[in-house]
Amino acid sequence: MLSPQVSKALNKQIEVEGFSSQYYLAMASWAETQGLNGVSAFLYHHADEERMHMLKLIKFVNERGGHGVVPALKQPPVTYKSVKSVFEEILKHEMKVTSDINSLVDSTLKEKDYSTHNFLQWYVSEQIEEEALARQIVDKLKLIGDDKGGLYFFDRDLEAMAKTMGTKETEEKKK
Ligand code: FEO
Repeated sequence: MLSPQVSKALNKQIEVEGFSSQYYLAMASWAETQGLNGVSAFLYHHADEERMHMLKLIKFVNERGGHGVVPALKQPPVTYKSVKSVFEEILKHEMKVTSDINSLVDSTLKEKDYSTHNFLQWYVSEQIEEEALARQIVDKLKLIGDDKGGLYFFDRDLEAMAKTMGTKETEEKKK
């Protein structure tokens, strides 16, 4: 059974993951209106992943006798300055999510809730991957600078990446 403190902290994280999904969805929609089909495919996919992060938490809270609450929708920014600024915002956002996950892990230790602590290790690893990927993309965009041809190839790369991400998930579901 979850303690009220851990239950509250997990529900706060449900809200964070829900907002992440909305945020990436807004970025994806903006990128699509800019003709950046690869960037938008990647971000639509990322939005789905964040929804899955939220869902995983809701189910865990319910399984442990709590109640996973579906949060209200907050509107993310509608337009973005550039592709580079989108990925810089993503990196900043993921760094904040990592610190939220760390505080959550901390509260499970304070409450001696080792099963929630164990469950959260998946999120700890996921954050390492997400931050690394965002950092790698920001570095690539710094290299590209204002080169339109470079941006065209970058968009194609992200399209290919979004496709592989989809295939990887289907394979994981089959296991
Ligand atoms: Fe679910 Fe990107 O943090």
